[in-house]
Amino acid sequence: MSTFTDAFGTDPEGVWLAPGRANVIGEHTDYNDGYVLPVALPHRVLASVARRTDGLLRIASVQQPGAVVELPMTEVRAGNPAGWAGYVAGVAEQFDLPGGLSVLVDGDVPAGAGLSSSAAVTCSVALALRDLLRPDLPVDALVDVARRAENDFVGAPTGILDQSASLLCEAGHALFLDTRDRSRQQVPLDLAAAGLALLVVDTGHTHSHADGGYGDRRRECEAAAAALGVPALRDATPADVEGLADDVLRRRARHIVTDNARVLQVVEMLTGGGDPRAIGPVLTAGHVSLRDDFEISTPELDAVVDTALAAGAHGARMVGGGFGGSAIVLVDTEDLEAVTAAVQPAGCAYRTFVVVPSPGAHRVG
Ligand code: GLA
Repeated sequence: MSTFTDAFGTDPEGVWLAPGRANVIGEHTDYNDGYVLPVALPHRVLASVARRTDGLLRIASVQQPGAVVELPMTEVRAGNPAGWAGYVAGVAEQFDLPGGLSVLVDGDVPAGAGLSSSAAVTCSVALALRDLLRPDLPVDALVDVARRAENDFVGAPTGILDQSASLLCEAGHALFLDTRDRSRQQVPLDLAAAGLALLVVDTGHTHSHADGGYGDRRRECEAAAAALGVPALRDATPADVEGLADDVLRRRARHIVTDNARVLQVVEMLTGGGDPRAIGPVLTAGHVSLRDDFEISTPELDAVVDTALAAGAHGARMVGGGFGGSAIVLVDTEDLEAVTAAVQPAGCAYRTFVVVPSPGAHRVG
């Protein structure tokens, strides 16, 4: 199943790329109408796509040799097909494809690592179908197509962070996005020029957003906003939050309010011309908040953060939805090797790589 022609016996109409992401700061803020600051990774999904005439949806993956998923377009509905193919089908069903579709995905974004492997799939297919069928569709609508596939088809109640990052990021920049009105700014991020590296450490402990923890946090945030009488926690002040009677809701809301403030602070630091090392302690404060107030870190992620800081990193925090996955570590380039070695637990090797802010989704063939 190494090529589209092997899988389907024809040539693709084109090949589209969509990247995974690392989020610099602003976690779980997206479904609270808040701010985020992701960068696109060089890790990506390539979707090779061709329309069919027999009414079938056929989906194959280079990473799952031999497992072609096939069903009539008329039988595609939320949850069918289940599993990884659902991310493709959930996008396809939103377009007018009576003749059907063949899709081959080829990805190298680590799955379950908090680096948006699923958005890389949905966004690559969404961009392909936009180009082939709906060239008029604005990119914000495409973000919603990809998000609906995840929310309504696969059943993971995510916000728009991952899809926006995959579709809108630019090389050499972080994307400062207001998820309420979708206004955005590309923030130049050339850490190497400042002698810095942003290291990703994938603990290999996987997570799934369709499982309960993520949805629980979302419901708690909505309950906190309702208790405060605000449309979303974006609208709450620190004083409002401290007045919440319920201890759990107070801590969940405190994370959202303080992380929104941390996004604004980091953007100000990165655009203000000062030393980008200054963002390190803000990232670490984000981790403490995710660990203690939002309670979505793990012992493995906490250990990565603690050992990285002890080995001289400027800041570190878990990234993504939580309950496993990866941490990011801001470190001087000259300390990169030592910090990378320090975060490895005895007897096992975590996957590590340095973030290179990469281009968002585009056609490659
Ligand atoms: C996952 C979700 C995003 C966002 C992050 C946490 O990646 O898909 O929408 O909520 O978790 O910031």
